[in-house]
Amino acid sequence: MKLILATNNEHKIREMREILGDHFSEMVSLKEAGINHETIEDGKTFADNALKKAREITEITGLPALADDSGLCVLALDGMPGVFSARYASVTDENATDQANRDLLLKNMEGVTDRRAYFACAIALTMPDGKAYQTEGKFWGEITHEEKGENGFGYDSLFFVPEFNMTSAEMSPELKNSLSHRGEALRELEKML
Ligand code: IMP
Repeated sequence: MKLILATNNEHKIREMREILGDHFSEMVSLKEAGINHETIEDGKTFADNALKKAREITEITGLPALADDSGLCVLALDGMPGVFSARYASVTDENATDQANRDLLLKNMEGVTDRRAYFACAIALTMPDGKAYQTEGKFWGEITHEEKGENGFGYDSLFFVPEFNMTSAEMSPELKNSLSHRGEALRELEKML
């Protein structure tokens, strides 16, 4: 069975292929499938957005589609940036740069002692017959006071994982995948399949 990955993010595509590769004959990204489609992510939850992304691609292609939506939730900020993680520093609806998002997070965390936060990821797999499979994963850590580490993307250099005494930007991709929200949600889906 051929599966469309409703993303063009190389990091996500690699992780999706690694964990679900055995279940599908072919897994192709939007770009590889020649699809130029952008879903408006206006859901209130990660799960809403992931389902919307996957459904739209299944409707366009008639094929199964896999989508994820993820973000960083900071307890002291009432769960922000949450579903707005990719565009946190943007006053318009356009994507802000990762650097601008990190700078704003550090500013909003000035003087805050409770630094607990988690990355969340929702995954949706939609089938041409209308069936949908949904899972979620979480990755707990703490917001640092300054950036550390060069790997990863987004908020990784501000996300400290006490058990490993390093930020997720200091982890190898293998270690991060084994702990991450996206890895957990994908492995849950793998169990369902
Ligand atoms: P989306 O899932 O592509 O909508 O992206 C959500 C945003 O959340 C990203 O742009 C990052 O800023 C942030 N994010 C999600 N997962 C991670 C991660 O594993 N590390 C760092 N930032 C992440």
